Amino acid sequence: MIGRLNHVAIAVKDLTAATDVYKKALGAVVTEPLPQPEHGVTVVFVTLPNTKIEFLEPLGDASPIAKFLEKNPDGGIHHICYEVDDILAARDTLKAQGARVLGDGNPKIGAHGKPVLFLHPKDFCGTLTELEQV
Ligand code: CO
Repeated sequence: MIGRLNHVAIAVKDLTAATDVYKKALGAVVTEPLPQPEHGVTVVFVTLPNTKIEFLEPLGDASPIAKFLEKNPDGGIHHICYEVDDILAARDTLKAQGARVLGDGNPKIGAHGKPVLFLHPKDFCGTLTELEQV
């Protein structure tokens, strides 16, 4: 079921500071900030040869990453995302094994315009896990 690592998402309070580190210290190519009001975040993508890093900065009052940043004021890894061929089949297989799917259990369109689901960190080694159908 599980495919490639699509991205690692890092939540930060300040996108400019974060992307400066990646640009200057690591020589990475980063995109311009992309506000995603429907997800409560502004996103910057860093494309690496084998995967992507996504920096997330809170957007709006009810950002889903606000609480995470309260606990992790310096920022931190927020979730990882694996690719799957068939997100509904993956969801049903995981649910049948007791895994908890967040939200209403239906895929939403994610930052890349593809269907995504989030799985409860307690069921996946303490790590919020996203599935993306590619
Ligand atoms: Co993601």
